Amino acid sequence: MTAAPFKTLDQASLKGQRVLVRVDLNVPMENGRITDATRIERVVPTIREIADKGGRVILLAHFGRPKGRDPKESLKPVAEAVSQHIGQPVAFADDCVGEPAQKAVAALKDGDVLLLENTRFHAGEEKNDPAFVAELAKLGDLYVNDAFSAAHRAHASTEGLARALPAFAGRTMQAELEALSKGLEAPARPVVAIVGGAKVSTKIDLLENLVTKVDALVIGGGMANTFVHATGLGIGKSLAEKDLAATAQRIIDKAREANCAIILPVDGVCAYEFKAGAANHTYGIDAIPEDQMILDVGSQSVERVNAAINDAKTLVWNGPLGAFEIAPFDQGTVAAARHAAQRTKEGKLVSVAGGGDTVAALNHAGVADDFTYVSTAGGAFLEWLEGKPLPGVDALKA
Ligand code: 3PG
Ligand code: MG
Repeated sequence: MTAAPFKTLDQASLKGQRVLVRVDLNVPMENGRITDATRIERVVPTIREIADKGGRVILLAHFGRPKGRDPKESLKPVAEAVSQHIGQPVAFADDCVGEPAQKAVAALKDGDVLLLENTRFHAGEEKNDPAFVAELAKLGDLYVNDAFSAAHRAHASTEGLARALPAFAGRTMQAELEALSKGLEAPARPVVAIVGGAKVSTKIDLLENLVTKVDALVIGGGMANTFVHATGLGIGKSLAEKDLAATAQRIIDKAREANCAIILPVDGVCAYEFKAGAANHTYGIDAIPEDQMILDVGSQSVERVNAAINDAKTLVWNGPLGAFEIAPFDQGTVAAARHAAQRTKEGKLVSVAGGGDTVAALNHAGVADDFTYVSTAGGAFLEWLEGKPLPGVDALKA
């Protein structure tokens, strides 16, 4: 095994040190209640390890997208949740810099944990302002980044600090980077990618990058309709971006040049309306009725996707194959996800998935735990799939 191109906690001497730990606590919340604590669960190992080794943990995080200080976007309610997950008290400071932060940090003993208020209450955070970076850096001796899902942002707490203090990847960041490397950078071949979701327009860069890197690309979801339309077939009333037909064709051509097989649906589950439980029927992709819409891939398409998974040693998955949020149009996504999970369990496949809806779809299929790695990142995972540099990761490697 080659050494990681970044330092991990294995190289950090933590005892008695003030450790600024960037975490992603941007959890979904409804009426002050956290509805999904996955991101908190993911950072527990790093916090526990630093605290257990006698480091003084100072958590830095953003919450929402506030413009200035806004009590609605306070991290205070999250401190209690973090405390429950790590099994020890978590102190809270009302500001991430200045006197409140300095006092709270000064009060820490070895092994204590402190959460600082939302970094985005300060304009300097998103501007990566050197003066703000210096204010944050004063609070710590070391910097640990465990927030891959915020690594596409070149902000003070994700990028600037990594250059101002000795910087290390946390355990979740490390696992994420190792998994991603197995997914695309140094994958076992052949590699198949499954890309779904509603729109081509949000994934053009991603598709253009993937066709140069993977051996086969499965296109599903609403965006497949645009591709099917581009090949000259009728798609009835299906969701599509018909103005992007030329873009779709360009991606198909690029794939051909790069020797990447494009796998489009060969049948579609159609209905008259976008509604849970809507009466439906499966048609061949060259026989989609003019007055209906495709809401899921049909069983023959699923068979082809599963065959592509069987041919592959590595799978990278982003986006559902159909309207998985309304039954029964979840079936294509669920069937392919279960098949990928099975191959992974059999040791025949490395499966890496991520991006907003994807995690929800895999949870819905009950297989998120059976994939090799499921990223909790949304935007950062997509930018990684686009082949873009991630400032938060690059700063750790510098
Ligand atoms: C996310 O929720 O995807 C990350 O926390 C990044 O948040 P942002 O998109 O507001 O930068
Ligand atoms: Mg977001």
